Amino acid sequence: MGESVIPLADLRTRATPARIPAQPIPAIGLLADRLGRPLRDLRISVTDRCNFRCSYCMPKEVFDRDYRFLPQPELLSFEEIARVAQLFVAHGVAKLRLTGGEPLLRKGLEALIAQLATLRTPAGEPLDITLTTNGTLLARKAAVLREAGLKRVTVSLDALDDAVFRRMNDVDFPVADVLAGIDAALAAGLAPVKVNMVVKRGTNDHEIVPLARHVRERFGLGVVLRFIEYMDVGATNGWRLDEVLPSAEVRARLHAAFPLEKLPPAAPGETAERWRYADGGGEVGFISSVTQAFCGDCNRARLSTEGKLFLCLFATQGHDLRALLRGGASDQDIASAIGLAWQEREDRYSELRGSGAAEPGSGERRIEMHYIGG
Ligand code: GTP
Ligand code: 5AD
Ligand code: SF4
Ligand code: SF4
Repeated sequence: MGESVIPLADLRTRATPARIPAQPIPAIGLLADRLGRPLRDLRISVTDRCNFRCSYCMPKEVFDRDYRFLPQPELLSFEEIARVAQLFVAHGVAKLRLTGGEPLLRKGLEALIAQLATLRTPAGEPLDITLTTNGTLLARKAAVLREAGLKRVTVSLDALDDAVFRRMNDVDFPVADVLAGIDAALAAGLAPVKVNMVVKRGTNDHEIVPLARHVRERFGLGVVLRFIEYMDVGATNGWRLDEVLPSAEVRARLHAAFPLEKLPPAAPGETAERWRYADGGGEVGFISSVTQAFCGDCNRARLSTEGKLFLCLFATQGHDLRALLRGGASDQDIASAIGLAWQEREDRYSELRGSGAAEPGSGERRIEMHYIGG
């Protein structure tokens, strides 16, 4: 029955009030959390809805016709998002990622992108503005998104084989349309396009080499394919360790088909370990949050669809920025509240879990990825 629906709805209404410190915290790009980590990357979820039902993210049995998504007035407006984003940028954020759910389901998203594209870092630099999408609407929207100021996109794609892909998205969506979406993104200049494949042992691990081969042949150097270890995010996907295929094994299988060489990191705090094909055929990445946690330099904050600030993908509670936005708080107050939350941050969930330490917030329900953003 609907037993998993009610707790999720309850969780969304729970939030830590965002505290405004007595002394303002200046937004001059110098924030550090308790582990000395800066704030550089803000992921903004613009909708909790998606037209896919990937079992590792929004299993159909939970996110069915009776599931209550957030009603429109609960969502941050574009103006509210842009206002908060500007304060994060003042605090040092240089990269904005729009996520969902499926962000392209949010009507008129290009208007938000146009607002975000006007923001500048304290040093006067434009931001790296990107978007994570399942690609279903990309063929239609790529050009408009690019014109609005989007720099690049990341497309989720878990299989090349049409039957496997349809089974994994669980809404019978054909793979050809996503591939056409990637073509459109490249044609619009949204480069480099990254393609993210979540690998589940026994479900799509036989697709690693075929997908890599197709990406090399069809898109060449324009696309970076990244393999993601299936994570225990959220509370509904029935995660099991034996379904995780460690990146080392993914890499070995790929290396057997196309020899690989390791590349140095491009930037601190990256999620992916970078490798390149020895024959010059392009770059691939491995995101190993289960077998090789990367919390040590995690510089990512997440803004949920209704304006809660989450300091970790595995957090159980967010800080309610919307209450400040809608309660008449000044920019300085909101910036200080963001600063305080970050200064008090000590989250490193994947690392703790990997070391066998007690899970933080264990017993509490973790937030779902489609709502907090990937
Ligand atoms: P680029 O800037 O394009 O390199 O993107 P990114 O790797 O920072 O972001 P992306 O959203 O493409 O991340 C890829 C995947 O890595 C996500 O879908 C998640 O599965 C995982 N991931 C991203 N950020 C985190 C994180 O902070 N913690 C953990 N555990 N996993 C993450
Ligand atoms: N494990 C790993 N990645 C996940 N994503 C969603 N759920 C999971 C999970 N359980 C990521 C995928 C997808 C993006 C939207 O979120 O990368 O492409
Ligand atoms: Fe939708 Fe992405 Fe979640 Fe799949 S992983 S259900 S495409 S938000
Ligand atoms: Fe950052 Fe939390 Fe992911 Fe670790 S588990 S990398 S702290 S978001």
